[in-house]
Amino acid sequence: MLLICFLKIQALCVFLHPTKKFMLKEITSINIDRTKKSRLHDVDWDNITFGKVFSDHMLVMNYMDGDWQTPEIKPFDSISLHPATSAIHYGQSVFEGMKANKNEAGDVLLFRPEMNAKRFAESCERMCMPTIDQDVFLDLVKKIIDIDREWVPSKEGFSLYIRPFMFATDSFIGIKPSDNYTFIIFTCPVGFYYSKPLRVKIEEFYTRASKGGVGRAKTAGNYGASLYPAKKAKKEGFDQLIWTDGIEHKYIEESGTMNIMFVIDGKLITPSESSDTILRGITKRSVIDIVKKWDIAVEEREISVDELVFALEKCRVSEVFGVGTAATVASISEIAFRNQIFSLPPVTNKNISTRVSQHLSDLKLGRIEDTMNWSVIV
Ligand code: PLP
Ligand code: COI
Repeated sequence: MLLICFLKIQALCVFLHPTKKFMLKEITSINIDRTKKSRLHDVDWDNITFGKVFSDHMLVMNYMDGDWQTPEIKPFDSISLHPATSAIHYGQSVFEGMKANKNEAGDVLLFRPEMNAKRFAESCERMCMPTIDQDVFLDLVKKIIDIDREWVPSKEGFSLYIRPFMFATDSFIGIKPSDNYTFIIFTCPVGFYYSKPLRVKIEEFYTRASKGGVGRAKTAGNYGASLYPAKKAKKEGFDQLIWTDGIEHKYIEESGTMNIMFVIDGKLITPSESSDTILRGITKRSVIDIVKKWDIAVEEREISVDELVFALEKCRVSEVFGVGTAATVASISEIAFRNQIFSLPPVTNKNISTRVSQHLSDLKLGRIEDTMNWSVIV
């Protein structure tokens, strides 16, 4: 039996579609159809592969006739699409990735979710898609987590990964911004994305993003385009690439799933995000803020491959690590550049990456005081 509940969402919602006028709308209701049989007890919690286990419910909200329709929470299931669905052909598709954890008291905590809401809206705008007011986005995220709160792991190293995404749904062959969209949020309990330190290669031929392109947007095509070079690197024995700029391949940008950080002469150095080619990582921003509080020098600036290789040759690089929601803080053990392979020193408890990783984890689990007000309770 379909159980339909009407819950009030106390939020004012502004929806903007680039081809239409501003629309002001208050979402007053949400339809909820709960699963009759939870899959929670079928999960093998000791063997969770990242991205393969899905919680019981998903939230779906459609955009049609220039307006968002009533959101629905329903059992997690496949969706059916018209073969001409425009996102599949023309790539109007954006997504976010966030995590929820439980503190000792059993409260569910989100980490800086307002930054995901903002980045989602920016990605939508870049891709000519309607935006969702950031408070409404957050409300919808909270609603889906609330209904599946039992799926939020309490085990160290595990989280509930939250995947909000939107894609164009016009059944139409032709290049134009779609008139119809679907927004979905589903969640998955996850463990580590990377289980061991990574071997990476500095990419000098293929390009992830170019100035004026969509590198800053979290849009599906950026990931699709990176697969071929990543696959080639994998064949050569590397786990990931370090992308360089699309013009001269002279400056370091980021990795395929995370932003990148170097500790050179004791300073934390990371590529500046002033260029529109790098994803504005929430983990990166948080690491920078934490480390600055520890009085460690931080430089956000262009870092050339030459500068990095020179520092590696002179053994001035003590740490290299990637940072991202899925990746958390991922150690890099080896960097390849042309025919050279540089091994980084072994990771110790004194490393900035180890300390910041522990600090972030303590914050997310509510074990230390949240002095920056980053946690949001669901
Ligand atoms: N860069 C890329 C390409 C990513 O996919 C991600 C992950 O979302 C990041 C960086 C890190 O961003 P965040 O820390 O917000 O997850
Ligand atoms: C994330 O870190 O949330 C991402 O979207 C990256 C992806 C590799 C899972």
